[in-house]
Amino acid sequence: MCGITGYIGFRDAYPIIINGLKRLEYRGYDSAGLILYDGDTIKMSKTKGKVSDLEKQVEKEISKGGNIGFGHTRWATHGVPNDVNSHPHFSESENLAIVHNGIIENYDTIKKELINRGYTFKSDTDTEVLINLIEEVKKQENVKLGKAVQIALSEVVGAYAITVFDKTKPNEFVVARLGSPIAIGIGTNNKEFFIASDASPFIEYTKNCVYLEDGEMAIIKIGRAIRVRKIQDDSLVDYSVLQLKLNLEQIEKGGYDHFMLKEIYEQPKAITDTFRGRMLVNKGLIRMAGVDDNIQKFLNAKRIIIVACGTSWHAGLVAEYLFEDIARIPVEVEYGSEFRYRNPIINEDDIVIAISQSGETADTLAAIKMAKSKDAFVFGVCNVVGSSIAREAHAGAYTHAGPEIGVASTKAFTTQITLLSLIALKLGLANGNISKTNYHTYLREMELIPKKVESLLAINDKVKYIANIYKDATNFLYLGRGFNFPVALEGALKLKEISYIHAEGYPAAEMKHGPIALIDENMPIVVIATRKGHYEKVVSNIQEIKARNGKIIAIVTQGDTTVKEIADHVIEVPETIEAFTPLLTTIPLQLLSYHIAVMLDRNVDQPRNLAKAVTVE
Ligand code: G6P
Repeated sequence: MCGITGYIGFRDAYPIIINGLKRLEYRGYDSAGLILYDGDTIKMSKTKGKVSDLEKQVEKEISKGGNIGFGHTRWATHGVPNDVNSHPHFSESENLAIVHNGIIENYDTIKKELINRGYTFKSDTDTEVLINLIEEVKKQENVKLGKAVQIALSEVVGAYAITVFDKTKPNEFVVARLGSPIAIGIGTNNKEFFIASDASPFIEYTKNCVYLEDGEMAIIKIGRAIRVRKIQDDSLVDYSVLQLKLNLEQIEKGGYDHFMLKEIYEQPKAITDTFRGRMLVNKGLIRMAGVDDNIQKFLNAKRIIIVACGTSWHAGLVAEYLFEDIARIPVEVEYGSEFRYRNPIINEDDIVIAISQSGETADTLAAIKMAKSKDAFVFGVCNVVGSSIAREAHAGAYTHAGPEIGVASTKAFTTQITLLSLIALKLGLANGNISKTNYHTYLREMELIPKKVESLLAINDKVKYIANIYKDATNFLYLGRGFNFPVALEGALKLKEISYIHAEGYPAAEMKHGPIALIDENMPIVVIATRKGHYEKVVSNIQEIKARNGKIIAIVTQGDTTVKEIADHVIEVPETIEAFTPLLTTIPLQLLSYHIAVMLDRNVDQPRNLAKAVTVE
């Protein structure tokens, strides 16, 4: 978590840093800060609150001149969010400054040692410990900054992406990563460099980018090609410079009030982009290099283990239904955090699929590293190109949803399901578990999904009307069965995340075993009751809710009449194959949570306490 961005070159650093921080705010937003170096002094400004608060403070506190500087937007780990704990942090001498994303686990031991050597600490952070350790190493070993960073990092346990500046050698930055991402943008003729947690802060300046790998550090010096080394043994790394495909338009709101709404509306395009070039309906083909190149491994797999967190875990649950139904391969869906620590049984012929929008989620990443160490084949389903999970996996496929900036995941979820559907279909055909006719029917239907989502978005006003009725409820229940059980979980998660209303998702039939006790006339219950998939049984559940005076918001198939008679509100979704219903039923639930959050005046794109990429355990 946390966002880092920096600039070193010939332009005014301040606007680059402040705009960059705004683009990275999805990574954390409880405090923000920056330093600027004007050729003479390091000016620092930092505050609890958002980047906009920092902007106001900078106006009052420091002059904005300088061609060198870096900034940070924080998601607190060590130390409460307050002005002092905000980054950057100075070393004792105030010659060195640092921004840090991650956690130094052994900071306490190091801190005690440094205190014994006379260091004092202003903040409660692990980061201030790290910068003082670097300073101490530099002094004791009489080495340059790069070497001092390298030695200090070999003493720390934890995760980090850092940028360090030394006032006594002001034409360079030292950056390093282990477990948290860092991208370096390279300007023409190495006259300027940009640092950021992802490339979005610098895409209007350069498309040339180097992503550091775990365990690497770089010395960035104006006028010289960057040097990348391995932290462990100081060996030089032969890095490659990538050409970024991202453009500015993709990371702006484009007329929408919030990124989340924009991203909900982008789903028809995002789903199309996911299957474009992969699903050739006329030829009856699904092409996906990551699967094609490893088809025997997939076909020999005795089991697929899916690891993920949050919304991606819900996509994993949908995939469980898809793979078992279409390809008849047993599936287990695991939270990355549980899987990695419970000594799971992993066999060589297991395939582990890691699902992650950001490709940076620490628990998912650690889970696949562990699976790899036990010889499992790991396949990554990520959205962010070049992300850690994508690089760590043996093979994979990108969802191509485009940047998702709203913290609550929307288009990432539907595109993950799209991609996983294609894999299930490909395997189902290859292992003979679905007929060619059925396979073709699925492909033709998938091709229609973007249009169906598009038409479904017309329900926005109706959902808004329903949101207005129930916005003051304190609890919501979401029910679904089969393919739509994970959708119920996802609907509840969306509401919790952005409106802070307590919500629970349940398999509809389980309602009798607990949640039914909560139902009264104040309880809104969202029930997914599409015509395919245990329809009659869900209708019975709706009757049971009705009998207890619960308020029913039902998601039904277009033309449904039965549920309409019982439910308080119905939202119709187009007809589709049962396996693809999650791609449609999810949409009204996203909109419902969005409108409720807006009506409650919540910060929709940056809900409290959450972050988009969770790079800590
Ligand atoms: C955070 C985000 C969620 C996301 C989860 C997993 O909690 O707020 O929206 O679903 O992380 O992230 P990933 O990038 O691995 O999909």
